Amino acid sequence: MKAAVSRIPTGISGFDSLVQGGFKKNSINLVAGGAGSGKTIFAIQFLVQGALQKNEPGVYITFEEKKEKLYEDMLDFGWDLEKLEKEGKFIFLEYTPEQVKKVLIEGGGTIEAVIAKTKAKRLVIDSITSFALLYQEELSKKEASLALFDLITDWGCTAVLTSEDDDHKGSFIAAALEFEVDSIILLYYVKQKGARVRAMEILKMRGTKHPGKTFAFNITDKGVVIDTKKQVIF
Ligand SMILES: Nc1ncnc2c1ncn2[C@@H]1O[C@H](COP(=O)(O)OP(=O)(O)OP(=O)(O)O)[C@@H](O)[C@H]1O
Ligand SMILES: [Mg+2]
Repeated sequence: MKAAVSRIPTGISGFDSLVQGGFKKNSINLVAGGAGSGKTIFAIQFLVQGALQKNEPGVYITFEEKKEKLYEDMLDFGWDLEKLEKEGKFIFLEYTPEQVKKVLIEGGGTIEAVIAKTKAKRLVIDSITSFALLYQEELSKKEASLALFDLITDWGCTAVLTSEDDDHKGSFIAAALEFEVDSIILLYYVKQKGARVRAMEILKMRGTKHPGKTFAFNITDKGVVIDTKKQVIF
C-alpha cells in the first residue's frame, strides 16, 4: 500500500480541516486575490505558524513589501518577525523580479544557499505577479514559471505564491501558472448589501478532497480565521 501523502499544516485557523490536514508536502500553492484581499497576511501566517508550531524555518521573498513596515504591521497579530528572524526561523529576502530571473538563469544561486543554510521548509513568494510581468509572451512566461517551480521543488520546500487577481475570471496575470500549480486558493473581498465581505474558495488542490463552497473569513487579531460553517453566496 502506498504511504499516505504527508501534509504540511498551514496553521491557518479553519483552513487545514478543509484540505485533509494541510498542503501536500513540497507542493506549490497559489493564493490569488485583489488588493487588500489578505494574500500577504495569509502567506506570512503560513510561515509564522510553521515556525511556531512545527519549528520549521521559512523564507519570505518579496518584491513589494518593505521589511520594517511589514514587521510592524504583523505585530498586530502577535507575530514577532524580528524575534523569529533572530532565532533563524524567519528569513526576509527583498528581491527585484530581475534578481529572481537571474536566479533562474544561474539555477538557484543565493536563494538556494539561504534555504540550504537555514534548512527552510516553507517558502513564500509575494507576489509572483511582478515576476510574471517580466515576460511578455505567454510561452516564455510559462517556461520561466516552470523553471521556477522546478527550482522550488528541488529546494524541498512547500511554497505559497501570491498572485494579484482582481476579477477572478480566470484572467490571472499569472494565467500561465494556473495549470501548473498544485493548488489555487482564491481570496475575495466583495461588496454585499453595501459592505465588504471576505471569502475564500479552494479552486483546486491536487490529490486532495476539498469542498466546492466559498467560505467566509475574517482578519482578526490572530490573523486569518476561516469560518468553515459560513458559506458566502454571490
Ligand atoms: N490588524 C488588522 N486587523 C484586521 N484587519 C487588518 C489588520 N491589518 C490589516 N487588515 C486588513 O487586511 C488588509 C491587508 O491585507 P493584506 O496586506 O494581506 O492584503 P493583500 O492581498 O496582500 O494586498 P495587496 O494586494 O495590497 O498586497 C487591509 O486592507 C485590512 O483590511
Ligand atoms: Mg500583499
